[in-house]
Amino acid sequence: MDKFIIRGGNRLNGTVEISGAKNATLALMPAVLLSGGVCRLSNAPRLRDISTMSALLEQMGMGIKHPGTTLELDASAITHFEAPYDLVKKMRASFYVLGPLLAKFGSAKVSYPGGCAWGPRPVDLHIKALQKLGAEIEIEQGYVLAKAKRLHGATITFDVSSVGATGNTLMAAVLAQGSTVINNAAVEPKITQLANFLVEMGARIVGIGTNHLLIEGVDALHPADDDNIPDRIEAGTYLTAAAAAGGTVTVNGVNPAHLEAVTAKLEDAGCTLGYGERSITISSDGALRPVNVTTAIYPGFPTDMQAQWLALMTTAAGSSRVTDTIYLDRFNHVPELQRLGASIDINGNSAMVRGVAQLTGAKVMSTDLRASASLIIAGLIAKGQTEVLRVYHIDRGYEAVELKLRNLGADIQRVDSEEY
Ligand code: EPZ
Repeated sequence: MDKFIIRGGNRLNGTVEISGAKNATLALMPAVLLSGGVCRLSNAPRLRDISTMSALLEQMGMGIKHPGTTLELDASAITHFEAPYDLVKKMRASFYVLGPLLAKFGSAKVSYPGGCAWGPRPVDLHIKALQKLGAEIEIEQGYVLAKAKRLHGATITFDVSSVGATGNTLMAAVLAQGSTVINNAAVEPKITQLANFLVEMGARIVGIGTNHLLIEGVDALHPADDDNIPDRIEAGTYLTAAAAAGGTVTVNGVNPAHLEAVTAKLEDAGCTLGYGERSITISSDGALRPVNVTTAIYPGFPTDMQAQWLALMTTAAGSSRVTDTIYLDRFNHVPELQRLGASIDINGNSAMVRGVAQLTGAKVMSTDLRASASLIIAGLIAKGQTEVLRVYHIDRGYEAVELKLRNLGADIQRVDSEEY
């Protein structure tokens, strides 16, 4: 089990290349099941979650190559329609195979996702939507057993905006007989990317980018290639790290429009930001104003940036409140930040942070992907040495994070560790 050893106090300066969006890739890959042939996804990041999705699809018969940052997926010989527990328990996004398997093959056996580091993270909206499209669904021994001769169109209204349920429903509706309307669809950039990819494959979708989607089912889709969007959460994480440590950093290969809620808050905190067509440059002296944040669905402040923002506020010049409205208990990073000297109280789904003069390095433990990012940011500004254990969590969603940070001037090493 690897750990990171970080010596705090260095400013960050330079340019970091942002990888392709992890969460978009995790939806685009299952969508290839609908194509019946070979699709190429460029700008696909090399991450543990992508390897997990690849393993899941390969055991169904998908041929997968990952030369450089292009994923080549061959769906011409899919023979198994099952997502086993030992893979789904590693990554909840495995549940995205349910919709395309049902639509293309009429059958799917997908393990119920297990627990997460926070939650609950139900899948009731996915199940209800697929049933409205005509799927017969039973739950047996922790598995969702789904069958459908041919799905039929329906009007689906989500009472909660759900990225995953919107994705699964989209991938099912494109091959259903007749029209489907999705009301209160998620509008995160990854959903827009997925919808555009499905259209490239021959799907008929109107309203892309809005929360009202109309899908006209077709009999078959064909292979297509796709150029993935950049990872807005990776970019936001490096911008927040630079804000905390001080210095001038440019994140390159991004879509600034995807990050407006985050960059606005960084400006409120006293950072100076400049914008290029595919880049954002931040300058910070590390002395920050306290800024309240409440997470929301896109285009609001992303819940996947909540932990990183909390780390940033630990040494701000005053008190701030960070509220998560998407996941009400996504605060496993707080006890670890407190070990570094942060002054944080949790009250329901809000964390009240009182800025302290300085954090002090300590041994801390990652509990999940974004909590790991939060602890790394805190380690970059803590006095002395911080050891972050269980960094396999961060390898799920950040490509070569210690190399990218070292290139910016951080003192961070990855070492093998018996500790866990
Ligand atoms: C996606 O998860 C992301 N994962 C998450 O990123 C992200 O935090 C989340 O969207 C919210 O933006 C991927 O894209 C792989 P949801 P997802 O369905 O699709 C409730 C990361 O760090 N809900 O939009 O699972 C749910 O409880 C990960 O990269 C239901 O009630 O999220 C939550 O409160 C973590 N019933 C809200 O909707 C359902 O059937 C949003 O969840 C489904 C969801």
